[in-house]
Amino acid sequence: MKAHLILVLVLTLSQLISFSQTLPALIPEPVSITQGKGNFTVNVHTKIRAIDSAKPVAEWLQSFLQKQTGYKTAIVNSAKENAIQLLINTVRDEMIGSEGYRLLVTAKGIQIQANDPAGLFCGVQTLLQLFPSDIENAKAISKKAWDIPIVSILDYPRFAWRGLMLDVSRHFFTIQEVKKMVDEMARYKFNILHLHLTDDQGWRMEIKAYPELTKKGAWRVPRTGLWWDRESPQPGEAATDGGFYTQQQLKELVSYCAARNIQVMPEIDVPGHSLAAIASYPFLSCTKDLYEVNAGNRFAATDDDALCAGNDSTYQFLEKVFAEVASVFPCKYIHIGGDECNKSFWSKCAVCQKKMKDEGLKNENELQSYFIKRVEKIVEANGKRIMGWDEILEGGLAPNATVMSWRGMQGGTEAAKQNHQVVMTPTDYCYLDLYQGDPAIEPPTYSLLRLKKTYEFEPVPTGVKEGLIIGGQGNLWTESVPHFRHAEYMLWPRSFALAEVLWSPKSTHNWNDFVGRTEKQIERLDKAGINHSMSFYDAIIEPKKDAQGKLLINLDTEIEGLQLYYTFDDTYPDAYSQRYVKGTDIPIEKDAETFRVVTYRNGKPLGRIITVTVDELKKRVKNNNP
Ligand code: ACM
Ligand code: ZN
Repeated sequence: MKAHLILVLVLTLSQLISFSQTLPALIPEPVSITQGKGNFTVNVHTKIRAIDSAKPVAEWLQSFLQKQTGYKTAIVNSAKENAIQLLINTVRDEMIGSEGYRLLVTAKGIQIQANDPAGLFCGVQTLLQLFPSDIENAKAISKKAWDIPIVSILDYPRFAWRGLMLDVSRHFFTIQEVKKMVDEMARYKFNILHLHLTDDQGWRMEIKAYPELTKKGAWRVPRTGLWWDRESPQPGEAATDGGFYTQQQLKELVSYCAARNIQVMPEIDVPGHSLAAIASYPFLSCTKDLYEVNAGNRFAATDDDALCAGNDSTYQFLEKVFAEVASVFPCKYIHIGGDECNKSFWSKCAVCQKKMKDEGLKNENELQSYFIKRVEKIVEANGKRIMGWDEILEGGLAPNATVMSWRGMQGGTEAAKQNHQVVMTPTDYCYLDLYQGDPAIEPPTYSLLRLKKTYEFEPVPTGVKEGLIIGGQGNLWTESVPHFRHAEYMLWPRSFALAEVLWSPKSTHNWNDFVGRTEKQIERLDKAGINHSMSFYDAIIEPKKDAQGKLLINLDTEIEGLQLYYTFDDTYPDAYSQRYVKGTDIPIEKDAETFRVVTYRNGKPLGRIITVTVDELKKRVKNNNP
């Protein structure tokens, strides 16, 4: 009897284990999912049932299915069997809010229920991830049947703000490319696209009152290569590199996004990062010097790239600009930047100094705060609220500002203590412009943010009311992102991690499980022709010095279950080379000039070979960098 019971237990356990391995690889992980036996089959006769406010989502799904399967799926008012039913609740389901949904797949059909179209759209995205990965093929595949596993899913987001920022100033991306990114975001339930529309290197939005902003400000001299080593514009050199969006294009983008449950938050970055505006209208700066739009260079500007905060004509300019911005973007927020303002020109400017005296401002930080508060009034006069980078805390927060915390979590924590709303986007976890693997084999950028670290992001600091942290965001600055394909490389899979952190309950987070699902999702990206990185398969090289100053190498991997092989003799490592024993430190072989390492899984090469010179490793130890 006892033996029988144990046998039953063992069987049940083993079934459960193998069962859990077959759960669909969804990202973000839903709140709860249970899987039954068998499938529902979508075929050429399957219909979509939808009425009233569910119809736009039905039409989106219909057009996706037509493109990917060739089926002309009909949208009908009623259908019992062989249908995908998109149902808006007549009685509100309090548990799931606006973006949540319940998705039920039975042998007879599919049903998605939600309170609002946003929830239906999110449910449809989950449904598409339940389809076989062939549904993603860039070219339609003709198949008679698409099997969808029988499941019951309850799902709703942890945070209301699930954003990605694209910097379209440092490099310009066409509207078609931005739309492609929006399609990619929608798959993973992001709901905010933050467009960084202006900076020193380009003004990207048509402003009818100030045509020079895009006639001159959207264009710079062509340069390639390292952003921070670029030659300045030369006298008489033609500015041919750039572009901008017309207001009509931006309005179309806004509706394109709205159909995908995404809002567009525009950013007009002031008072710093404003050289493109100043090059177009020199009256805006303290010096009134004539400038060209910048073609590169690193972060802090030496040019006078800040708007003069003392001159009233600066504010008159901003009134007209923000009125037009507000008329194009329905989003409740306008991001006004506020970051990294070089205030040294304010210190030398008679107009700024007079303003400080007149207003009783003790220092330039208080002048910045005066500036932001005036901009807040302008923005609010247009029925919007401001969001700003955490520097807007300096000298005192504007009364209704929402803070985007980027220099770590401190700014956001401080703002929340002052009862302000916060979007968390700390560099260490959310900056998608950082290296995601070993700098020796990645395109040049700076610092380091691996996939695993991104997954460890926790937007709510201890001691802060969760409600004030409205969410988080990944930021793709594009100094070192010259084209869209590379933008995708930087976005994915790190944005899978952010999507899950921002949507799924903290209790469901599980790194190993996430890696498995990431690999499955990458298969789908490949079929869809979306670029992504695979850097999380590569070795992590950690050089260090022992007490005697001797260089040693410790190796690791981001994901479990990999083997590492290395060489010091200028040959490429494979599974017949020295195998690394986890946790050990390797001494450098005498006279070795290069170190090479590669990862394997189950006897097959997986990551890329990393080649680093011993000199470089010494430098890394000295500079304490990746
Ligand atoms: C920023 O990264 N300057 C907000
Ligand atoms: Zn000034």
